[in-house]
Amino acid sequence: MRALISGGAGFIGRHLATELRLQGHDLIALDLLSPQVHREPEAARAGFPGRMVVGDVCDADAWARCSDADVVIHLAAETGTGQSMYQQDRYHQVNVEGTRLAAREAARRGVPLVAISSRAVYGEGARVEADGTRTYDGVVRPGSRAADSREDDPHAPVSVYGETKSEGEQVIAAELGGRGSATVIRPQNVIGAGQALHNPYTGVLAAFLACLKEGRAISVYGDGAQTRDFVHVTDLTAMIGWAVANPAPAADGPRIINCGSGVRTTLRELADHAVAASLSAPVDIVHVDVHRAGDIRDACADLTRARELGTPSPRWCAADAVADFVRTSWDQPGARADAWDRALDELRDRGLTS
Ligand SMILES: NC(=O)c1ccc[n+]([C@@H]2O[C@H](COP(=O)([O-])OP(=O)(O)OC[C@H]3O[C@@H](n4cnc5c(N)ncnc54)[C@H](O)[C@@H]3O)[C@@H](O)[C@H]2O)c1
Repeated sequence: MRALISGGAGFIGRHLATELRLQGHDLIALDLLSPQVHREPEAARAGFPGRMVVGDVCDADAWARCSDADVVIHLAAETGTGQSMYQQDRYHQVNVEGTRLAAREAARRGVPLVAISSRAVYGEGARVEADGTRTYDGVVRPGSRAADSREDDPHAPVSVYGETKSEGEQVIAAELGGRGSATVIRPQNVIGAGQALHNPYTGVLAAFLACLKEGRAISVYGDGAQTRDFVHVTDLTAMIGWAVANPAPAADGPRIINCGSGVRTTLRELADHAVAASLSAPVDIVHVDVHRAGDIRDACADLTRARELGTPSPRWCAADAVADFVRTSWDQPGARADAWDRALDELRDRGLTS
């Protein structure tokens, strides 16, 4: 089988390419080799185990330059939540219009689409109130607790990034609904080797790593009690591989699947895991009293549907995934810790913090 992967040179794309090659598939990537993600675009191009078309997913001609494929896997996106709050047009163009072209390309070729959305479509996500009712307005009432997000929960994004991911899903339904096979996967926070280390607009762990390497205290924004669901990148690529091997029935409309570990980790615990995994002397963990626009309090995937479908079970816990990231990233070049300070200052200057 030949797979066309948009964004194939990125963090998830590279892991996916390795997995699909091991399964014997031929690969072609469509990737812009965006300078924000790739410091060494030629190395990224040379490292891809297949043909790479350098082009923009918003450009129909770039898609046309890609040879025949049996499946379209759409990963390419702008991914910085904070950055999306002030680069709205760019995020909308790439994440919505790029997704529209990916869906059209799958339809034109008559092949299944597997697209990566995000848990960001849920925004603050569901809560269970003291009386057992499920609410979605993000208000923390006495006695309520965060609930795991289900695929049928309403979309309530709180960032432009989340909005564009939500619109991207709607575009897929409009382009393919009932006519073409489409699987939409909503990953939680993905971690693992090869994550961008010099992009201060994404990746809390890359910031923690920079602090560990410089012997600087780790900054946790807020009280550290916020929760996230960290999923190892190979658990996500296993699910993508499953979706490729088990295309969604076209008549049912897009098949939406959560991807996570199903376990909550607080940001404070994440920082503790990072310090425990450090290859250098332990550093302090400090709390910075700031909230960034677009950040949410709690997130975790409900994996009931994934289990019912029989997708591969997640194999990594957060502590092991963090240790894997720290070990494999330690000697890689990346931004210095103050790059994240500057990214926060940029948000402050634009009135996007409180
Ligand atoms: N990493 C996570 O934690 C996470 C979580 C949820 C969802 N996702 C989604 O997974 C997908 C892949 O994310 P990633 O972490 O690998 O990101 P990444 O930034 O590492 O990779 C994205 C790739 O897309 C390419 N790209 C960007 N704009 C493009 C354009 N206009 N045309 C062609 N190529 C373009 C980049 O050059 C890069 O190679 C994205 O859709 C992202 O929204 C990621």
